[in-house]
Amino acid sequence: MRKGILSIGAAAAALTLGLTACGGESGDTSAETSSAPSAAAGDAKPGKVGVILPDSKSSARWETADRKYLEEAFKTAGVEYDIQNAQGDKTAFQTIADQMITNGATVLMIVNLDSGTGKAVLDKAKSQGVATIDYDRLTLGGSASYYVSFDNTAVGKLQGEGLVKCLTDKKADKPIVAELNGSPTDNNATLFKQGYDGVLQPKYDSGEYKKGPDQSVPDWDNTQAGTIFEQMLTQEPKIAGVLAANDGLGNAAISVLKKQNLNGKVPVTGQDATVQGLQNILAGDQCMTVYKAIKKEADAAAQLAVSLAKGEQPQASGTVKDTEGNRDVPSVLLEPQAIFFDNVKDVVADGFVSKDELCTGEFADKCTEAGIS
Ligand code: BGC
Repeated sequence: MRKGILSIGAAAAALTLGLTACGGESGDTSAETSSAPSAAAGDAKPGKVGVILPDSKSSARWETADRKYLEEAFKTAGVEYDIQNAQGDKTAFQTIADQMITNGATVLMIVNLDSGTGKAVLDKAKSQGVATIDYDRLTLGGSASYYVSFDNTAVGKLQGEGLVKCLTDKKADKPIVAELNGSPTDNNATLFKQGYDGVLQPKYDSGEYKKGPDQSVPDWDNTQAGTIFEQMLTQEPKIAGVLAANDGLGNAAISVLKKQNLNGKVPVTGQDATVQGLQNILAGDQCMTVYKAIKKEADAAAQLAVSLAKGEQPQASGTVKDTEGNRDVPSVLLEPQAIFFDNVKDVVADGFVSKDELCTGEFADKCTEAGIS
């Protein structure tokens, strides 16, 4: 896996997004360096930016991080914006998009609920001359002009390597590993799985690990994740490690493990560095999470959106292959970071979570132990 490095340089009204490379082993992401900055635009009054977030249950991030950072970026740029949340409703998603466009949005940024409905929204917007950005999730076969996300195969790789580290620390012998994957309709979930299976499959093949139950969680639904994991554990009581694709799914697994007094004994992974996930790590119930600096993601997307709203044609020098639409989508991909007990403090230092919200009650002592000051 090569590394993608983002460097944003905004000179006058021109914007350049530089990305060295972000090729995945899967072949699903590829990138090339290059490109001159776009021509600077005039002083035209910027149009409005509409943003549609997917839900508020599949991860805390959308409302606690993405909304906040996007708002900050638009306010700083002095651009009019409207951020709404579709709350998992695909029909409402299209209605919100239509309303935003009627109300003057000239740029639409979406986190799709699935590629099919996302494509319909993007195509309709495009047919009305609205510029479009896929935010965090690539709409397969879609028509977004840009895609801004993390290197999602790298996210999965960190999860796989993290679980291996935690199982090694526990001196696990031929552990049975269960996989609790993200939504089957989220392209990111596919990429995360490619990343962690790239690490785990060779271990299954060599007999070092035993492959246990492996299931996707529709819509990343945390409640369903609990039911699914309960069934997994009934079917295979010797599960010794859980690859959970995000903190919400991880927490669902931990809740089930707690009932059997197995929490802390069976390492569980996660993603998003949510307060709950980080507290589970401090408590010793979760082995790791993946921190994605959402401020950087929001800033990069907002910079593109603001530029588009001013009528410019910003350059994103990286591209990601949309295998379904067979096109290279101009992209910005950022690098994720693995978080274990010892570097939970990095997430606090980065300002992503505050000590006050993390180190409450029973977690205060653990925070001190983890060097969070
Ligand atoms: C995002 C994750 C998030 C998940 C559920 C994915 O597309 O990349 O950060 O946890 O969706 O909302």
